[in-house]
Amino acid sequence: MLIIRWFGAWPGASVPRAPRCPRGGGTPRVPPPEYESRVLSERLRTRLEARVVDVAAPFWHAALGAERAAVETAAAEFFALYPTRPVPDNSGGSGFSDSFWLYTAGRLLAPRLVVESGVYRGQTSWLLRRACPDARLYCVDVDLSQAQFRDASIRYHEGDWTELTFDAVDSARSLCFFDDHVNQARRVREAHERGFRTLLFDDDLPAETLYATGAPPVPTISMLFDETLRPGERVEWLRHGRPHHYVVDAADTHGARALIASRHVTPDLTPIVRYRAQGGLTLVRLVE
Ligand SMILES: C[S@@+](CC[C@H](N)C(=O)[O-])C[C@H]1O[C@@H](n2cnc3c(N)ncnc32)[C@H](O)[C@@H]1O
Repeated sequence: MLIIRWFGAWPGASVPRAPRCPRGGGTPRVPPPEYESRVLSERLRTRLEARVVDVAAPFWHAALGAERAAVETAAAEFFALYPTRPVPDNSGGSGFSDSFWLYTAGRLLAPRLVVESGVYRGQTSWLLRRACPDARLYCVDVDLSQAQFRDASIRYHEGDWTELTFDAVDSARSLCFFDDHVNQARRVREAHERGFRTLLFDDDLPAETLYATGAPPVPTISMLFDETLRPGERVEWLRHGRPHHYVVDAADTHGARALIASRHVTPDLTPIVRYRAQGGLTLVRLVE
């Protein structure tokens, strides 16, 4: 059984449920949406885009064997698209950098079947819809009432993604995106069992920075590879002044690491774009 030990929530519940807007952490926030600050001069916008491509191209080449030209095209599309997003204020969800990585991942992978777990206001559903216009797209959240973007072509499900059934999963053309703050080891096992082999995780934080998000999805992918963590170890942190902890438990992690063939963590774009730092995404390929 998955045991989530912070916030004292949901032991025994059939649907693991993170707080409504975990990254918000419940503290009042007033700053304007980050993209209300941006460069308008076309020449300089182009230069910013080129600097982002300089980081993204080698990353996607190493992760997927993508050619630079394909990354340039995806980045150009993203820079044109982002100002039109239907969720102008996505505080608590993906900002500019994670949106960039998600969009370019969708474009370069070109999956035919996509599952998103963790919709929140719908910004990442919109990005996936735009990146993969012909894919069968399932968007899942335990609380879809928060969604500000909806699309008739998307199959929504309120609950947990494990309640869905898929006729046939072509492992080479299918993608799962997990941004639901649920135990990432559990998500690896569930995805593998259902035939998915390519996964994207948000909030894959190492144990020493779990404070960076609310209700971190422990154990994260990074924690599965952290040889220093021992069963029974109590990892403690403060988030917005409140104490939280997680006790490392072999039952949480069991089997997941062996299912992971490779993982690639997206580089931090913050020093280039100067928007808020985000956890980045981790691309995980599973063994056959
Ligand atoms: C950080 S938000 C998602 C943000 C969104 N992907 C974005 O970047 O705009 C996390 C969401 O996960 C949802 N959630 C919590 N438990 C879940 C579960 N078991 N399955 C699916 N969604 C869940 C919450 O309701 C919340 O809307």
